[in-house]
Amino acid sequence: MKRSIESVSQAVAQLYNTYPFPPEPLLDEPPPGYNWRWHWSAAHAFCTGMKPKTQAVRVLDAGCGTGVGTEYIAHLNPAAEITAIDLSDRALETARTRCQRSGAPNATFQTLSIYDVEQIPGTFDWINCVGVLHHLPDPHRGIQALADKLAPGGIFHIFVYAALGRWEITLMQAAIALLQGDRQGDYTDGVQVGRQIFANLPANNRLRRREEERWALENQRDANFADMYVHPQEVDYTIPTLFDLIDASGLEFVGFSNPRYWQIDRLIGQAPDLVRRAASLSERDRYRLIELLDPEITHYEFFLAKPPLPRQTWDDDETLLRAYPERHPCMQGWPSRSVFDYDYQFIELTEAEYAFLKACNRDAADSSTSSPPTVAECLAQTGLDLAGVRSLQHRQLILLSNTPSP
Ligand SMILES: C[S@@+](CC[C@H](N)C(=O)[O-])C[C@H]1O[C@@H](n2cnc3c(N)ncnc32)[C@H](O)[C@@H]1O
Repeated sequence: MKRSIESVSQAVAQLYNTYPFPPEPLLDEPPPGYNWRWHWSAAHAFCTGMKPKTQAVRVLDAGCGTGVGTEYIAHLNPAAEITAIDLSDRALETARTRCQRSGAPNATFQTLSIYDVEQIPGTFDWINCVGVLHHLPDPHRGIQALADKLAPGGIFHIFVYAALGRWEITLMQAAIALLQGDRQGDYTDGVQVGRQIFANLPANNRLRRREEERWALENQRDANFADMYVHPQEVDYTIPTLFDLIDASGLEFVGFSNPRYWQIDRLIGQAPDLVRRAASLSERDRYRLIELLDPEITHYEFFLAKPPLPRQTWDDDETLLRAYPERHPCMQGWPSRSVFDYDYQFIELTEAEYAFLKACNRDAADSSTSSPPTVAECLAQTGLDLAGVRSLQHRQLILLSNTPSP
């Protein structure tokens, strides 16, 4: 029997009113660290090659839940104006309190379905929609509604589930539903049934092993367990169906925001013949090959954009020499040659790279009196060359802009 969009949305709201998600504790200070995907300059530079011209952007967090991501976006981008929407009043209540307590006045919250997002006036420069579209009864309609609210040149970050690495979860969801029978929709009962199943399956059972090895830590909390195993609505994607969804949005696919996973070389790079064959595949078929060969994948995360999206490759030496470089905002351990990069990978900078980052990292005193140094000026003070600058940019250790930025 086909359920209506309204009845599914009600069931989803009911789940998250019972178990607001994510169940992260509230803090009286800004959240620790960063996630570069929630930093406007970092996300924009990833998509375009350039630091954005303004920090005063409008952001939509679509399906914000209890506001963990919203809070990061608000603190990492204090000049941005953030609107966050969700179906669940209880999740929104937590989100509001979270941002109040940690001191983020630039986020406002609203009970609204993604399907009705047209009710918000104007457009957004950046939309974040993490862990939501796969819970919509009609994700194509949802992504289209959001795409309509994206400004030209705007970027859209999405996270949705992948079917291949969630195979055991899907089986368990169906098993719990069978045992619940007409108690489906009673989410606390679902959690209790699920926990009993895991406790009683043989120790070497595949579903149990996968839960213990991969998920048990986070699933100690009932909200996580419910979100994973007793959800009333979930669609899991594969590369072909993912690109059907993307095509339905009418937007441009910019790239996965975890690009390391999508390198075919990490799987068959030792076999030149296979590498040659893979190189002749279309981009989508290459992604399909990767997920077929490494079916651990549990989600897809990626950026879309509404054309025209300006892009700068910095291939031209003169343009690069005139650019204004800046140390990437997502870096931990600075100033030191040993730092954690935007992705929390530990890296060792060379002497020349370190000197370049120091040269472009104006301190506050300098910035009030002079315009920032160009790449040419920074190079003059260090032993780095243009290839080194391009490498820093490629590894997201610097941001580059054509104009001295705010
Ligand atoms: C798994 S949570 C993700 C929360 C948050 N984005 C995060 O990543 O932490 C999914 C959220 O999407 C919301 N949601 C589901 N369908 C929605 C819809 N049609 N419109 C708005 N929010 C929706 C749910 O209420 C829930 O809070």
